[in-house]
Amino acid sequence: MGRVVGVGLIGHGFMGRAHSLAWRNIVLFTDSPIKPMLKAVAGRREDAVRDFASRFGFERYYMDYRLMLKDPDIEVIDNVTPNHMHKGPTIEAIEAGKHVIVEKPPALNAQEAYEMYKAAERAGVVNMVAFNYRFVPAMVLARQLISSGRLGRIYHFRAFYLQQSLADPNAPLTWRLRREYAGYGTLADLGSHVIDLARYLIDEITEVNGRLYTFNRFRVNPATGVREEVNVDEGFTAMVKLRNGAVGIVEASKLATGHYNSLTIEVNGSEGSIRFDLERINELEAHFTGDGELSGFRRILVTQRTHPFMRFWWPPGHVIGWEHTFTHEIYHFLVRLSERRDVSPEAASFKDGWRVMSIIEAIAKSSEEGRWVSAP
Ligand SMILES: NC(=O)c1ccc[n+]([C@@H]2O[C@H](COP(=O)([O-])OP(=O)(O)OC[C@H]3O[C@@H](n4cnc5c(N)ncnc54)[C@H](O)[C@@H]3O)[C@@H](O)[C@H]2O)c1
Repeated sequence: MGRVVGVGLIGHGFMGRAHSLAWRNIVLFTDSPIKPMLKAVAGRREDAVRDFASRFGFERYYMDYRLMLKDPDIEVIDNVTPNHMHKGPTIEAIEAGKHVIVEKPPALNAQEAYEMYKAAERAGVVNMVAFNYRFVPAMVLARQLISSGRLGRIYHFRAFYLQQSLADPNAPLTWRLRREYAGYGTLADLGSHVIDLARYLIDEITEVNGRLYTFNRFRVNPATGVREEVNVDEGFTAMVKLRNGAVGIVEASKLATGHYNSLTIEVNGSEGSIRFDLERINELEAHFTGDGELSGFRRILVTQRTHPFMRFWWPPGHVIGWEHTFTHEIYHFLVRLSERRDVSPEAASFKDGWRVMSIIEAIAKSSEEGRWVSAP
């Protein structure tokens, strides 16, 4: 492992833990050309941020992320805060000369995402939106099968991202249910993943016809005890057209009882199909029409040494989990940082993030106007 690069994390909640584990795993498991050092974490509650820094091995902590941006030991800023905190601090980090990772969705809307993309382009810094499902080994294998032509001409893309966390009308109001903090609701939170995967696996989405819904309009804010309006969607469904001519359906809902974190994908082509279920993250199902009377979906256990990223882990059949996707994406970021190259097309750049936000806006517009809308 060559050059040492200091990392600063903004935020230390759910994704703070997932990313920190991944940053640590880089050194332990991968052949990254860059050795990341966890220099500092910034947060708001001193006892919590101090405890987080000591547990995950950050050298220091800041109570103001702006002070962290002045720290000359830090070259990479990893922003894992809620969506309304993505644009401002990320652009400030870029202007301070830092390379940047931001969680998905990249921003509250397409305009913000565009400004982030342009700021990163102007500064020439390496930038990535952390769409981690691109780094499931089975997803990478699926993309290889599709791009190599093994499935023939692609007809269909289907992706459903379902959770049940809002099915209970008494579930509390969180930042994810308010437009000023989240931008969009489930459309941005889970929908951004499936939109990104359509673009990653197949091609650009060019037209959409969608419907957003909110069944539970008021929920109690646990911080105040007051019932407040849910001013974003609880879910959406959309038909989409892709640039290569394929048609698709994308859906995300948090009202799907029985589903904890269910992401299923199917792609059908003239010569075969693939399907994937996040609850069986190590498996890819594939069908090839050329197999004649032996054709039919077969289960590929994506754990061989030659499978994407699996050389870093255990012997074949020793399965990996959800958290490994973050190690893979950060590894990819570091490889590209060592070469000072764009992270795309394997990972999502800020330009991809802007595209995803434009498609999200087009789906919302289509829902309001009840018609097909082109994704600009
Ligand atoms: N890729 C995925 O699978 C995935 C999963 C969950 C969340 N996310 C994304 O990650 C981001 C964070 O979500 P989360 O679930 O970790 O949220 P969270 O609420 O668990 O954590 C947010 C963190 O940001 C900190 N924060 C908020 N305002 C701050 C400020 N002004 N200065 C410094 N720190 C501040 C909070 O203190 C907290 O530590 C969101 O954009 C979300 O969409 C991605």
